[in-house]
Amino acid sequence: MAQTKSVALRKPHLDDGGDIWQLIKSTKVLDLNSAYYYLILCKYFKNTCVVAEDDHQIVGFVSAFIHPENSKVLFVWQVAVDQSQRGKGLASSLLEEIVSREECASIQFIETTISPSNEASKALFKKFADKLGIKMEETETISQEAFPSDNHESEQTYQIGPFH
Ligand SMILES: CC(C)(COP(=O)(O)OP(=O)(O)OC[C@H]1O[C@@H](n2cnc3c(N)ncnc32)[C@H](O)[C@@H]1OP(=O)(O)O)[C@@H](O)C(=O)NCCC(=O)NCCS
Repeated sequence: MAQTKSVALRKPHLDDGGDIWQLIKSTKVLDLNSAYYYLILCKYFKNTCVVAEDDHQIVGFVSAFIHPENSKVLFVWQVAVDQSQRGKGLASSLLEEIVSREECASIQFIETTISPSNEASKALFKKFADKLGIKMEETETISQEAFPSDNHESEQTYQIGPFH
């Protein structure tokens, strides 16, 4: 289990699903999926997801999965850090924790999507790429029209890599 100051980084357990759902809800900017969705991530995708735990509270979470057709690609889905822990490098540590795992040894690229207004997310991934000395490039865009509701922004896909 990795440590960042007093915060422990670890794979999620099934029991964490509800707390993760609360954390995502509290961000007010991330799409809130059903609680069942987070339970399934904890059960079947634990090797590519990570939680940060501080004094028995979930204060950070990243969901990710290995591309089903390309084991070199890790798709990073949601990144959330509790307000109380922001600005301390926790989100960066969560990303580093996943890619350093044995189960992720095949990973050469991270892909993620970022909505144009999410400056924090862009800064996070740019910093991650810069720290590793690797490129971050824009690839395809998921247009606003692809979403059934008209209040969802477009999503820009970014590819980060190759890892050395
Ligand atoms: C985005 C988020 C995960 C960052 O968490 P964090 O632990 O504070 O991030 P870090 O401390 O690791 O910061 C990483 C880099 O991003 C930058 N950053 C973080 N928040 C930022 C913000 N609000 N605006 C601009 N840059 C920001 C930091 O400055 C840092 O770069 P630096 O070291 O060069 O200054 C957190 O703010 C959050 O949960 N936001 C709500 C959910 C969200 O938008 N998630 C991302 C999309 S999936």
